Amino acid sequence: MIERNDPCYCGSGKKFKKCHLGKDTPEERATAQNKMIKSPAAQNGMREAGRFNGQLMDYIRPFVKDSTSTARLNGLIHEYTLDHGHTPACLGYHGYPKSCCISINNIVCHGIPNDQEILQDGDIVNVDLTTIVNRYYGDSSETFFIGDVSDAARDLVRVTANALIIGIAAAKPHAHLNAIAHAIDPYVQSCGYSVVRQYTGHGIGTQFHEYFSVYHHIEKGDDILLLPGMTLTVEPMINAGNYEVVTDPNDTWTVRTKDKSLSAQFEHTILITEGNPEILTLTPSQIAAGQLLVADGFPLDSPTIKL
Ligand code: MF3
Ligand code: CO
Ligand code: CO
Repeated sequence: MIERNDPCYCGSGKKFKKCHLGKDTPEERATAQNKMIKSPAAQNGMREAGRFNGQLMDYIRPFVKDSTSTARLNGLIHEYTLDHGHTPACLGYHGYPKSCCISINNIVCHGIPNDQEILQDGDIVNVDLTTIVNRYYGDSSETFFIGDVSDAARDLVRVTANALIIGIAAAKPHAHLNAIAHAIDPYVQSCGYSVVRQYTGHGIGTQFHEYFSVYHHIEKGDDILLLPGMTLTVEPMINAGNYEVVTDPNDTWTVRTKDKSLSAQFEHTILITEGNPEILTLTPSQIAAGQLLVADGFPLDSPTIKL
């Protein structure tokens, strides 16, 4: 996510919100937009990074179970990444202390794995993985059910998975970037939930968070064009209650819903093509199943995208 308080993409050293957020001139936007188009070699680099990130998600899936600590999951993710010769991108990113983010129930994002936190029956838990493979970044997340979850939690996760797929389906070449938000936001609201506004998807390449921010909620003045060769993430965070979030003042990372309602998220890294977007972070098991997401027990409602 590019946060409003992150350094601006232009390199000014100012915060994004004090610099270019919503203020790019048409020329700046066109230049930045064109810089986002990846060469064929870079597109292949992104494919490799995405593929490994998906493989890592499949690896960790069976461990995301009742009675496991989030620290154990983090350790497994870290070791698997190093064993394959790659680098966990989260570790040390702006001082982040672990190799992935694990966000349980009312934690919206950036949950820090730790020994005290044990997954329990009924939890919903998002595992957000980012790996650097030969300089390129792959970034994806999935929300898992631990044992028997409530109908309310199950429905929130189902809608969030649909929101990701609907958003990806809207990422057509030459569409405006805000087509993604225009697809996701009304759908989520019609289900009675809200889209987090404080965090967004992002351009991605040889940097974790590249220009531009990918809003999932409708914002004015967002007229960037999606062009073939761009790589970006779609990663809606959906709250059962209000969209407002609070960052933990003690660890400065953990983001929770303000009203303590549940929150879910799914994320993929995608490549804009002349046709349907290519989902770079699909896992081998998702590809084998011909599905876009395989979190336990989803009948996805949304139209499927041809792979
Ligand atoms: N993976 C998150 C994203 O989707 C970012 C996590 S940054 C970290 O953009 F520092 F918290 F790891
Ligand atoms: Co991301
Ligand atoms: Co992520």
